[in-house]
Amino acid sequence: MDLERSPQDGAPIVWEAGFETGIADMDEQHHILIDTLNEAQAKLRGEVRHEAIDQLLRDLLAYALYHFEAEEAMMQAADYAARQPETADAHVAQHREFAARIVAFRDRFTSTGELDREALLAFLGTWLREHILGIDQALARFIHAHPV
Ligand SMILES: [Fe+2]
Repeated sequence: MDLERSPQDGAPIVWEAGFETGIADMDEQHHILIDTLNEAQAKLRGEVRHEAIDQLLRDLLAYALYHFEAEEAMMQAADYAARQPETADAHVAQHREFAARIVAFRDRFTSTGELDREALLAFLGTWLREHILGIDQALARFIHAHPV
């Protein structure tokens, strides 16, 4: 049975003014992440080859991990964990949770050949948007207020 889908399901993620942090590296990487996600969405709609889907999940995870590392380096440079421990912990925890969820989707796909595409895409879109608008913006405000 098909669940009813809202009109925005399956639509590409569009860059919003609220995503802009004013930190060049962060904004550039967020643009790439959104592009990667939109590519994944387009490919997943048509792609059936196991290897291609596996590669797509690997690429997505690899870029996300690279980006998280870059953000966490910014946190360290700004002494964020010492000055905003709760927010810093929550931020890193969100990165770890994202990675764990993608690994879980990939492990399931590797072992069973099954991938809940809608669940994956819904998770990716929601997570990225909320993460950027929420905790990434908090980090950006902190960095702007405490230049190194
Ligand atoms: Fe982040």
